[in-house]
Amino acid sequence: MPAVLITGAQWGDEGKGRATDLLGSRVDYVVKFNGGNNAGHTVVIGDEKYALHLLPSGILTPGVTPIIANGVVVDLAVLKQELDALNARGLDTSKLKISANAHVITAYHRTLDKVTERFLGKRQIGTTGRGIGPAYADKINRVGIRIQDIFDESILRQKVEAALDFKNQVLVKIYNRRAIGVDEVVEELLSFRELLEPMVADTGLMLHEAMQAGKTVLFEAGQATMLDIDHGTYPFVTSSNATAGGASTGSGLPPHQIDRVIAVIKAYTTRVGAGPFPTELFDEMGEHLAKVGHEYGTTTGRLRRCGWYDAPMARYAARINGVTDFVLTKLDVLSGLETIPVCVAYDVNGVRHDEMPVNQSDFHHAKPVYVEFPGWSEDISDARRFEDLPKNAQDYILALEKMSGSRMSAIGVGPEREQVVVRHDLLD
Ligand code: GDP
Ligand code: IMO
Ligand code: MG
Repeated sequence: MPAVLITGAQWGDEGKGRATDLLGSRVDYVVKFNGGNNAGHTVVIGDEKYALHLLPSGILTPGVTPIIANGVVVDLAVLKQELDALNARGLDTSKLKISANAHVITAYHRTLDKVTERFLGKRQIGTTGRGIGPAYADKINRVGIRIQDIFDESILRQKVEAALDFKNQVLVKIYNRRAIGVDEVVEELLSFRELLEPMVADTGLMLHEAMQAGKTVLFEAGQATMLDIDHGTYPFVTSSNATAGGASTGSGLPPHQIDRVIAVIKAYTTRVGAGPFPTELFDEMGEHLAKVGHEYGTTTGRLRRCGWYDAPMARYAARINGVTDFVLTKLDVLSGLETIPVCVAYDVNGVRHDEMPVNQSDFHHAKPVYVEFPGWSEDISDARRFEDLPKNAQDYILALEKMSGSRMSAIGVGPEREQVVVRHDLLD
């Protein structure tokens, strides 16, 4: 069986965790390859609700081997907390493996994330404050700390010293904060040695061997296409590659081995944090979508900004990721609306753009060109087959499929595990 990838087509929170859960026990490995505990995935299984940040959602499926690969930035205190919380609920997490090459998020990354945001004032990104950007900046600047460094105390101390040398000057002289001591950082990191010991592995080799043995590997992205550092709405993005290409560099599995790319996309659009959002609604309709869709961030609890479905954005995601299947989520949230507008193009200063403008300023000024679709009043949460959906809901899906650049293979009609209409098998 193949390697399959799940990412988000919009600005995150499309329901990736839920889509991973959908594939469940048909998968042998679930790999997180980017981001860190900025992600927030909610998975509802029966009466139980799980909110995962750092751990891949596949950890909830018995028998699956969860992997935190090299492309992830790991806050070790969060790792411990999430594992403890799952263990307390009776879940077995002993199969988890972490790449020796993954970077760690330390106290100074978290502090720098918060102070730089404050310093940006009204130009702030609205980050999750988890230290993600500063940890990736250190990685690229070659002053990061990796998981493997924790097993060599003298190297660890040297690296923390080198990192703090410059950072303490910035913290004290620019941001007027206290200096962070080398000892406190080193001590904290060393305290996780015992926890990490059985988990640390050459995860790239593990995945290679898994593929050779015919296992199914699922890559689960944190964040989404429009938050990707290269392909998203820079600078209002996260600091990693959430698009399909990131799975390869972020895990060590070569690109040609990933042959199925699933993009999860909401039947409308949401965004947390700052940045352009052409279809954003500022009226009661936006409030209605937020209320019915429970659009509060899983990680920070912030209210998500809401707007209509954006077809040029879907096509862009299809192209950048090489999407083979879309999973359309939260269709149930649209029930009861008289008409449903869909953005089919943008108007930028009087010029029509059928595709995403290459220039960020144009995207900032883009006004959506809408086509209205008739809504449906029925409750669709019990639909399990496409034929069970009202005609107008079927037509809405078919219309989105036509404009979005790939087939809509599964449709979410509610948050629970079984509330889904599957049109095409996602693994077959
Ligand atoms: P992720 O970050 O992409 O994994 O998504 P989040 O978990 O942050 O946000 C998606 C939210 O939508 C979660 O609360 C899910 O339980 C919920 N959800 C997913 N699919 C559906 C659906 O089809 N209908 C409804 N009503 N809720 C859904
Ligand atoms: P999941 O995996 C939605 C947003 C933040 C901010 C920007 C940068 O649940 O879809 P960061 O802390 O990453 O430096 O913040 O990215 N952001 C997300 N928005 N869902 C997420 O993850 C996000 N992770 C980061 O709100 O605008
Ligand atoms: Mg989320």
